[in-house]
Amino acid sequence: MGILSRLHNKVFGKHIYTGDVEAESNSMLYKDTHLEMRSICSDEYRVNIIEDSCHLHRMIINHKGEVYPCCYVAGNIDYRIGLVTDKDIIEKLLNYDIANGCNCYQYKFIKLSNTAVNKITVNKGLYLELSLLCNAKCAMCIVDAPYWDKKYDLYDTIRAFIDLWMPDKLWVQGGEILIQKQTLQWLEQIKKDHQNVKINLLTNGNVSLRMIPIVEKIFSAVAISITGFQAETYETITSLSLANTVSFTEELARNNKVEIYPKFLITPITAHETHLFLDWAIDVATSELLIQSLVMPNHLDKTGNYWDIILNDELSKRIFERASKKLKGALISKSTLLKSRGVKVCFIDAKAAELMQIDAKFIEDSNLRDVVFLGECSFQP
Ligand SMILES: C[S@@+](CC[C@H](N)C(=O)[O-])C[C@H]1O[C@@H](n2cnc3c(N)ncnc32)[C@H](O)[C@@H]1O
Ligand code: SF4
Ligand code: SF4
Repeated sequence: MGILSRLHNKVFGKHIYTGDVEAESNSMLYKDTHLEMRSICSDEYRVNIIEDSCHLHRMIINHKGEVYPCCYVAGNIDYRIGLVTDKDIIEKLLNYDIANGCNCYQYKFIKLSNTAVNKITVNKGLYLELSLLCNAKCAMCIVDAPYWDKKYDLYDTIRAFIDLWMPDKLWVQGGEILIQKQTLQWLEQIKKDHQNVKINLLTNGNVSLRMIPIVEKIFSAVAISITGFQAETYETITSLSLANTVSFTEELARNNKVEIYPKFLITPITAHETHLFLDWAIDVATSELLIQSLVMPNHLDKTGNYWDIILNDELSKRIFERASKKLKGALISKSTLLKSRGVKVCFIDAKAAELMQIDAKFIEDSNLRDVVFLGECSFQP
């Protein structure tokens, strides 16, 4: 037995796993998505890089049971740690290394050292992509949820993994968790069994207000995704009504029982509405509002350089220039309000900052140091 196995047995006790997950075959419509979400950006949009054993703090298990060190590389086989059903998944996690190294906007991967293994019982974060069943039909959906036609059946396996790995924080997403009865019942049980675990939700928030007590019972924090902030734009993208998400979020905010992280997605047809989202989100965000850029999934674009194409187009350049100007103006005019409410505006990925031309110099020159943040965001580990 190797030193890591011995340490693992010491820390976790013996784990028992049975069965192997079967590779899912793609349906005619549902295409596998390779999520290469690491932003490539110019130097001025870089943030201070943190060295970290990423899988300890932001590991993701996707809907097929595949385990990856983080969401950015989920789906890329080169980074796959294993399957959650692997009998030796814990050993694989403890021994995990990335052959050619890895770095992104915020992090540089480092292998877990034997000394770190001793500290492995604290501050572990785990993302779970559960069933992809969804009530929306988002045109850009990175997991292609609108065309998913499978049944999710990894509940028991994931529960066994949680009992073993004992994460401190879970981030759950689908599909749309709030329309998945079985997932909600399962999460309620996880919450009962692991009372100290914080469960955070990523949702489109486009559900009935009757769901609010359930949300408040299970989740500590909720990020609510919004793509476009005018009714027609939002509906064209998602097939749902913006008013539902707005009223759901506002009711949650009024109740003040869970943390709320409004999250906006910048796409070519939503960029100019980012400032409208900001105006609204200031009032409902507990501590942060999040701005992210579109990642073009492989099933929609084979070129791999979608944003380069858009940004090389003269018309798009003008539109983004205007969108940036409006957002910058709103950030400056709302900075006192943001400060007094203690709300930060976080550009989660480098491309979002770059698209809106928000860099360290603008932040400094506009005295937005306590308000606008590049990369740092507490909804993610
Ligand atoms: C796949 S969704 C699942 C959770 C939930 N249905 C929702 O929309 O929040 C998770 C997150 O991915 C974001 N997302 C979807 N498609 C995307 C894309 N092409 N690029 C970047 N983010 C995307 C959504 O805005 C959401 O915040
Ligand atoms: S360095 Fe970034 S992309 Fe690489 S594993 Fe860590 S978080 Fe993921
Ligand atoms: S709500 Fe989320 S999972 Fe559903 S289609 Fe939209 S982005 Fe995809």
